[in-house]
Amino acid sequence: MQQLEYKGTVIKECFFDRKNIKKFEAIFTQGNGYLGIRNALEEHYVGEIRDTFITGTFNKASKEEVTELPNIADASTVKIIVDEEEFSLTEGKICFYERSLDLTTGESVRSIKWESPKGIKLDLIFRRFVSLDNEHIFVQKVELLCDKDANIIIESGIDGSVTNSGAMHFEDIQRRVYEGRYMEYIAKTTQSNVKIIQGAVCSLNKEASAIPVMGRRTLANRYSIKIKANEKLEFEKKSIFFSERDKEFAHLKDENRLDEIKRESAKLIRELETQSYNELFKRSEAKWQDYFEKSKIDIGTDDIYVKTSINFALYHLRIMVKTDDNRVGIGAKALSGEGYKGHSFWDTELFILPYFTYTHPEIARTLLEYRYHNLYGARLKAKENGYEGAMYPWECAWVDDGEVTPLYMGADIVTGEITKVWTGLIEHHITADIVYAIDNYYRVTNDNDYMEKYGYEIIFEAALFWASRLEYIADKDRYEIRNVIGPDEYKEHVDNNAYTNYMAAYTMRLATKKFEYLKNNNKTLFDALDSKLDLKYIKECIEKRLPKLYLPLPNEDGIIPQSDTFLGLKKLDIIKYKNSDEVLGIYNDYNTNQLNEYMVSKQSDTVMLLYLFRDLFDYETRKKNFVFYEDKTLHDSSLSKSTHAILANEFDFEEMSYKLFRGAISVDLGANMKSSDEGIHSASIGGIWAVFVFGFGGTNIDDKGLNINPCLPVNWDFLEFPLVYQGTRLRVRVEKGNQVSVRRLDGKSAEIYIKGEKQLIK
Ligand code: BGC
Repeated sequence: MQQLEYKGTVIKECFFDRKNIKKFEAIFTQGNGYLGIRNALEEHYVGEIRDTFITGTFNKASKEEVTELPNIADASTVKIIVDEEEFSLTEGKICFYERSLDLTTGESVRSIKWESPKGIKLDLIFRRFVSLDNEHIFVQKVELLCDKDANIIIESGIDGSVTNSGAMHFEDIQRRVYEGRYMEYIAKTTQSNVKIIQGAVCSLNKEASAIPVMGRRTLANRYSIKIKANEKLEFEKKSIFFSERDKEFAHLKDENRLDEIKRESAKLIRELETQSYNELFKRSEAKWQDYFEKSKIDIGTDDIYVKTSINFALYHLRIMVKTDDNRVGIGAKALSGEGYKGHSFWDTELFILPYFTYTHPEIARTLLEYRYHNLYGARLKAKENGYEGAMYPWECAWVDDGEVTPLYMGADIVTGEITKVWTGLIEHHITADIVYAIDNYYRVTNDNDYMEKYGYEIIFEAALFWASRLEYIADKDRYEIRNVIGPDEYKEHVDNNAYTNYMAAYTMRLATKKFEYLKNNNKTLFDALDSKLDLKYIKECIEKRLPKLYLPLPNEDGIIPQSDTFLGLKKLDIIKYKNSDEVLGIYNDYNTNQLNEYMVSKQSDTVMLLYLFRDLFDYETRKKNFVFYEDKTLHDSSLSKSTHAILANEFDFEEMSYKLFRGAISVDLGANMKSSDEGIHSASIGGIWAVFVFGFGGTNIDDKGLNINPCLPVNWDFLEFPLVYQGTRLRVRVEKGNQVSVRRLDGKSAEIYIKGEKQLIK
C-alpha cells in the first residue's frame, strides 16, 4: 500500500512507518523563509531528525568544520502520558493514522486512534503551522479524547539538547519559566556569537496549573489533568523565535539588541496567549491565499500526482525564501534539513530564481541583492586565488563569509580515505551563472534601479574575474580555461569545459555591452563605477583576451565536446544506474578518479548550455547534442531532469520529456522514501515550476522580448500560469492544440511574442 497519497492541494501520509519518518519530516516541513521546522512528530522516535532553523544564523561548530546553519532548540515535542502510559506509536496498537499537509494553507493535521498496551483507547488530533503572518510564530494544538476517566500528563517546552548530527552549536545563556507559565530560553552560537531567543506558552481548555520542569539544556511545563471518559481535552502551544541576526533588530547597537529582543518577545508571548490557534491560523491562511492567488498554476489533467506536484513546488518555494532580507540566500535544502549545511549554490540563480523573477520579481530582487552583498567574499576569493575582480564562492553562507565549501567529505570507496572536495576550489561557473540570472532578471523586469545600484557592478567585477582567469596558451595562440569542474561533477580537473568557457565569454561580452551602454546613456553612473572599479582597465583586459578565448565547436560528428577529454573517454554501460532509484549509486562501484575516466555525466552540463542559450547553435545541432548527452547522463543531481525534460519537449521527444518530467517531480514527492532524508531539494523544486512554464508553457526571453511558444503534453487539456513581465501581471492560458490566450491582470499594456507573432496585451 502506498504510504504517500496525493490530493492536489494536500499530501497525505496514510500510515505510520518508523523507517520512513525522515521523508515525511522533510517534505512536510513548515516555515516562512525566516523559520523552518521539519515536521518531526510530537513524540520522539529512533531515527528522527528534529530540526528547526532560523535563516542566517550560521556558526562553525569547530575549527575543522565549515560554517553551517545550526539546529536551534526544539519546540515541537509534546509528551502525553495517560495513566502512566506514554503515548508512542511503537507501543500498543494503531487503530487509525493519517497525517496531511495542506499545501495551500501550510497546516498539517495528524489524526490517530490508538490503544495503549494496557487497553486505554485514545483519539488524538495534532495540528500545527508556522505563521506566514508573523514569521516568529509556530502554533500547535492537540485534541485528545479518552474512552475512560483518566489522568493525563502533558509536557512540552523548549529543548536545547539538539545538535546538527552530533555537532553542538550552542551555549546556554538563560532558561526560565516566569509568571508561572511563560517559558524563555536563550542560547548563543559558539563561534559566531549569535543569540537565539525562544519563548513558549501553553494553554488548556481545563483548569490546570503548570509545573516547571528543567533538565540539562531543556525546560518545559508539565500539566496533570483528570478527564472524564469522552470529554475533549484541548491543548495549545504557541512558540516564538528570534535571533540577534533578525533584520528588524539589525539597526540597534550590539549592547542594546538582546534587551530589545527580550522585550519584544515578552510582549509577543503575552499577546499570543490571548489568541486561539484558530484565530492565529486564519491570519496565516489569509497570507497563503494572497500568495497562491499570485502564483497558482492550473492544469487540465486528471493526473492528480501532476496537479499535486505544482502545488508542492509552490508551497516549498514560498517557505524557502526570506522575502525581504537581502543578507540571506536559499540553502540547497532550504530550511528543511541539515544537508549542504544551509549553504547557497548556483541552484538559486539558475533553478529557483526564475520562478521569483517571473512571478514575484520583488523577491527575486532581494535574492539578487544578496549576491551583491556577497561581492565582499567574492573579491576575497579572487584575491586569495591570484585573480582579479569577483570570484563567487561555490557555496555561500552569511553575506560576507566568503567560500564555505567543506574541503573533505564522504568516504572513497577504493582507498577508504575521506574524499577531497574540489568544487570549492575549481568549480568556477557560478560567477557567470549569477551574471546570467541578473541579465535575465533585468530583461524580465526592466528594473533599472537594481542594475544601477548593484547589477552593473557585479557584471563588471565578474567579467574582470573571467578575464584574469583565462590562461594564454602560447603554442595555440589562444586563451583557455583549464583545470575546472563544470556542472558535471563527475569530471574533475578538466580543461575547456564548454559550459564554463561559453558562460565566461558571455559574461565578458555582456560587460562590454553594458560598458558601452552606460558610457552613452548614463555618464554619471559610468564615471562613478569607473572611479570605483576602473572600467577602462576592465574593458582593456576583456578586449585583449576575449577574441582569443577558445570556445569548443561541434566536431565533425556535430558533437560539442563537453571538455577537451570527454569525447575520448572510455564508454560505460550505465543502464543499471540509470534505471535504479538510488541516487549516486555509481559511487558504490567507482571512486571520483575512476569516474573521471568514463563518458558518464552526473548531470546536465553541455545540455544546460543549450538550454540557457537557445541561439548558440542551430536546432539540429542542439537536438543532436541533447540526444548524445542525455544518453550519458545519470541525473544523479536533482537539478538535472527538469532541464532535460524541457529540452526533450522542445525537440519533440514527447514520451521522453514526460518521463523526465515525472522523474523531476518525483525527486521529493515520489515514492522513494529515502530521497529527502537530509532535506528537500530546493533547486529541483524550482525546476518543477520551470518545466511547467518554460517547458510545456514555452516561455522564454531573448533580445526581442518575452516569447510564449507552448507545447502541452498530449493528454493535457490546458495549462494556465501567471507571469509578471516588466511590471505587468499576466495570466497565460494554453489550450489543447497549443492555442494561447493572455489576460492582463494589472499594469500597463505589454508587448510580447506569441508563437513568433508580436502581440499587444491591452
Ligand atoms: C550538484 C550541484 C548542486 C549541489 C547542491 C550537487 O550534487 O552536483 O550542481 O549545486 O548538489 O544542490
